[in-house]
Amino acid sequence: MTESQGAAVFQDAAVQQVSANARAAQRWSHALMDNFGVPPVELVSGSGAVVTDADGKQYLDLLGGIAVNALGHAHPAIVLAVSEQVATLGHVSNFFTHPTVLALAERLLDISGARDDGRVIFCNSGAEANEAAFKMARLTGRPRIIAAEGAFHGRTMGALAVTGQPAKRMPFEPMPAGVEFVPYGDISALGSVVDDDVAAVFLEPILGEAGVIPAPDGYLAAARGLTAEHGALLVVDEVQTGIGRTGTWFAHTGAGIVPDVITLAKGLGGGLPIGAAIGIGAAAHLLQPGQHGSTFAGNPVCAAAALAVLDTIENDGLLDHVETLGKHIANGVGDLGHPLVDHVRGAGLLLGIVLTENIGPAATLAARDAGFIINAPAPAVLRLAPPLILTIEQADSFVAALPGILQTASGKDPA
Ligand SMILES: Cc1ncc(COP(=O)(O)O)c(C=O)c1O
Repeated sequence: MTESQGAAVFQDAAVQQVSANARAAQRWSHALMDNFGVPPVELVSGSGAVVTDADGKQYLDLLGGIAVNALGHAHPAIVLAVSEQVATLGHVSNFFTHPTVLALAERLLDISGARDDGRVIFCNSGAEANEAAFKMARLTGRPRIIAAEGAFHGRTMGALAVTGQPAKRMPFEPMPAGVEFVPYGDISALGSVVDDDVAAVFLEPILGEAGVIPAPDGYLAAARGLTAEHGALLVVDEVQTGIGRTGTWFAHTGAGIVPDVITLAKGLGGGLPIGAAIGIGAAAHLLQPGQHGSTFAGNPVCAAAALAVLDTIENDGLLDHVETLGKHIANGVGDLGHPLVDHVRGAGLLLGIVLTENIGPAATLAARDAGFIINAPAPAVLRLAPPLILTIEQADSFVAALPGILQTASGKDPA
């Protein structure tokens, strides 16, 4: 063997020793733009609430693609619905309708109680759902839009303009004009800005990306009262909280309000890209022919997946399950009495474990090593947004592992 042949053999052996995850990361960094950072793990398959990586390691998926995989991975109802639909009619243009999108629109109106006075517009993501709402707000002819500090509504320019996180907006300024921000949850701050010049108020029922921060009691009702008094639209962003995530179809239901616009995505498609904005009352008729749309909006395959999600949530009693399991997890974590856990907040299966130290990112890594996927939307908050089909045993396995995860994250030896 020559010297160069020997070097080549040595190199091959070195590459083979690198894990499949590491090889995927290398390929990612050479093929994809750097907008996310390089993901260290390549997931290759999933079943229920469990996913498997390229090196064969299994994880309990407690993040569900960030509140997306409502039925977990490879759920038979979604597999069947999508397979049948793509084998029947995979896509039509907006020049035609099809049975699946009609059925889905009617179901969404039913679950939002707006069968008579609501209308749906479909799109492909949460940002686009809020983009549609933003355009509806503009069509009122009023100049001002109010949104909340810390809120996240998406990355397209309109959705970004109402996102209350300056660092995300700043590189892309100038933003669409007219948006003002108020502290989230502060009724009097909202009262001081809402007047007859306001087109819309955008609110999340729970700030998801800011760290799972629920609206204080009475906040959504006060927002409804103020917007109704001044003829402004109340846009409730249910992209993260909707479709059963909090134990009801929509998180705003508990506040006893009817918004003008509800925006949806994430869990709606159970993993396929679909979003929707539901306009109720006058808001249902703001958009006129030619003013908005998207080639893929209401795509039959995505609509079929969404119908399967809605049917399964209903038929399998998942709303009750989510409520019960969410409380069980919150109580279980609270009962640990762990010094690094301050409290648990959120609703249903959108939970934030609030820590006493800023070890969220380290805890996310420690959890991954221990076989659990979670994330840290804020330095001292761990978010759980698992599939709604998570079992009590799976949830308990995480609660049991949490002390070890936290101790590893804080650099302390397990007790
Ligand atoms: C409340 C909320 N709105 C909108 C979005 C944007 O959704 P998408 O990423 O599908 O554009 C998100 C995403 O995290 C969200 O949490």
